[in-house]
Amino acid sequence: MSRLENKVAVVTGGASGIGAACCIALAEAGAKVVIADIQMDKAKSLQSRMHALGSQAEIFSCDVTAPAQWQALMAYTLEVFGRLDILVNNAGIAIVGTIEDVSLEDWNKTIAVNQTSVFLGTQQAIKVMKDSGGSIINISSIEGLVGNSLAVAYNAAKGAVRLLTKSAALHCGQQGYKIRVNSVHPGFVKTPLVEQAFSELPGDLAEQIVAAHPIGRIAEPEEIATTVVFLASEEASFMTGSELVVDGGYTAQ
Ligand SMILES: NC(=O)c1ccc[n+]([C@@H]2O[C@H](COP(=O)([O-])OP(=O)(O)OC[C@H]3O[C@@H](n4cnc5c(N)ncnc54)[C@H](O)[C@@H]3O)[C@@H](O)[C@H]2O)c1
Repeated sequence: MSRLENKVAVVTGGASGIGAACCIALAEAGAKVVIADIQMDKAKSLQSRMHALGSQAEIFSCDVTAPAQWQALMAYTLEVFGRLDILVNNAGIAIVGTIEDVSLEDWNKTIAVNQTSVFLGTQQAIKVMKDSGGSIINISSIEGLVGNSLAVAYNAAKGAVRLLTKSAALHCGQQGYKIRVNSVHPGFVKTPLVEQAFSELPGDLAEQIVAAHPIGRIAEPEEIATTVVFLASEEASFMTGSELVVDGGYTAQ
């Protein structure tokens, strides 16, 4: 039996980068997957790739900052697959800005997409999972653990996701829900988000960031997806409220 046989997963930001790798890996482990994103062309092409691999995948247009769209996503998932076992709160954006120069608009946007979305998703998933149990996996970042002068809003949002995760995990435990809630903290990963962020960095900062990973490179999205599959599976049955750092040694120094 596959690790995630008969399980149903929703992955936000599932059309690209880490989210897409999670969709593929969760499906390879046996799960049925809902790819939730705002980039529907990309979602559709991932769905076709997954169908070609024999996986079950549906797509759903969902802006994770909108509460009503979360409700619609949950309703759609229950309608097509009948249950929800795994939620990966992965959708995110990166906007470069220091404490001195970040605009209020960029701050609010970053908090909405990277932080409030995780609150909304976790709250909605608990509603659906409270009787049946499940695993909620929140994609934070090394930048939820250590500071980056160029990403103050991102730092603030990812740090909040780390502790929101612990608070929700404690609540689920106290209520007797069989829901585990954990965060994942990737180092830099080769995705469109990082390509965009690197292109905005001054000088040789991008090269310096790569060199700051003692393992000698940045990650492939699949190297984060394996951790997500682990947390989704029964192999992580005693893990809740924890933070898994997958960073090639970045924060070890
Ligand atoms: N790439 C990295 O180095 C890295 C490192 C640590 C953490 N992360 C986190 O991993 C997650 C995925 O990042 P990625 O690098 O794969 O980025 P990506 O840009 O490749 O993918 C992000 C996806 O989120 C979607 N998205 C953006 N705003 C959305 C919204 N409002 N509603 C729904 N979907 C939305 C995008 O359409 C896109 O498909 C993010 O939370 C990011 O902060 C990335």
